[in-house]
Amino acid sequence: MTQSVRARAKISALGTYVPPRLLTNEDLEKMVDTNHDWIMDRTGIRERHIAEKGVASSDLSVAAAKKALSERGLKPTDLEAILVATVTPDMLFPSTACLVQHKLGAKGAWGFDLSAACSAFVYALQVGSQFIDYTDRATCVIFGDGAGAVILEPAEDDSVGMIDFIHEVDGSGGCSLYMPGGGSLHPATHETVDKKMHYVHQDGQAVFKFAVRKQAEICEKILQRNGLKGSDIDAFIPHQANRRIITATADRLGLRPESVIINIDRYGNTTAGTVPLAMDTARQEGRLKKGDLVLLASVGAGFTVGATLLRWAY
Ligand code: UT7
Repeated sequence: MTQSVRARAKISALGTYVPPRLLTNEDLEKMVDTNHDWIMDRTGIRERHIAEKGVASSDLSVAAAKKALSERGLKPTDLEAILVATVTPDMLFPSTACLVQHKLGAKGAWGFDLSAACSAFVYALQVGSQFIDYTDRATCVIFGDGAGAVILEPAEDDSVGMIDFIHEVDGSGGCSLYMPGGGSLHPATHETVDKKMHYVHQDGQAVFKFAVRKQAEICEKILQRNGLKGSDIDAFIPHQANRRIITATADRLGLRPESVIINIDRYGNTTAGTVPLAMDTARQEGRLKKGDLVLLASVGAGFTVGATLLRWAY
């Protein structure tokens, strides 16, 4: 019997893009009854980037993908497959992957979208602000637009690349974070628009409690089954939904403070975009080197939960 030995996958390049327009806490103070101190204390967010009208997820994705390709010295036609991780596709169909393939000129690549909310990047990128109700202070202070792209290819040996992953879904959390309108259950009508059903609805406390508990649990599990301690991690790159969720996980895992990557102050929550954007921050700050042990983690709508352990490959 022949045994096929499959090489580990490794991230060989990273590119990110955020639209230039900034929405600061001071701007939001003029739009809803909120203030900078509340937002900083409760979430850790100072500002976020917002795409202009007419700019779609595929545009952000293409800009990020071009940077990743150029970093690796590849042409779009070198790509074999395109996975777009988004909860805000340009349209219901065709998939955003098809639009990215065309805009990028990635002739020969196939692809599909992956919808797992904030966990989608860890499961396998994103424009969300048009789904945000800028009269609802509970949600409009949190989200921003941005995208990241990585190139995945076989690792030369086992010293770098993906080591392990754990992914979970708990559908009982579906009612805590969702956009009710526009699907087959509530197709768009005047009524769904009048009832603001095409915006994000969130029970913040329920999501917060679940995220604090579950993110730590899944990280503990992946560390344990690989014989690792929190202090072994060189870079903890979690989903950036709330600074307090990140620090709670870091405390519980006993992570070294310098290993915890936080950039939510600059971008807010870009859902599936947060992990690659935080990777880029880690890299720019010199906190990500070849061979580093990296732990990615996320909790998102669904609920979806994911953790990935890898060694940075370049
Ligand atoms: O990426 C997907 C996953 N999403 C998440 O992980 C989000 C998880 N949840 C959270 O991050 C937090 O629950 C929030 C940041 C959304 C809210 O923070 P909180 O500490 O849970 O606040 P809260 O909703 O319990 O509200 C506390 C108070 C309330 O006033 P009262 O009832 O105590 O008088 C709110 O009305 O803060 C009030 N409030 C605000 N005040 C100023 C809510 N939003 C705002 C605001 N500005 N923007």
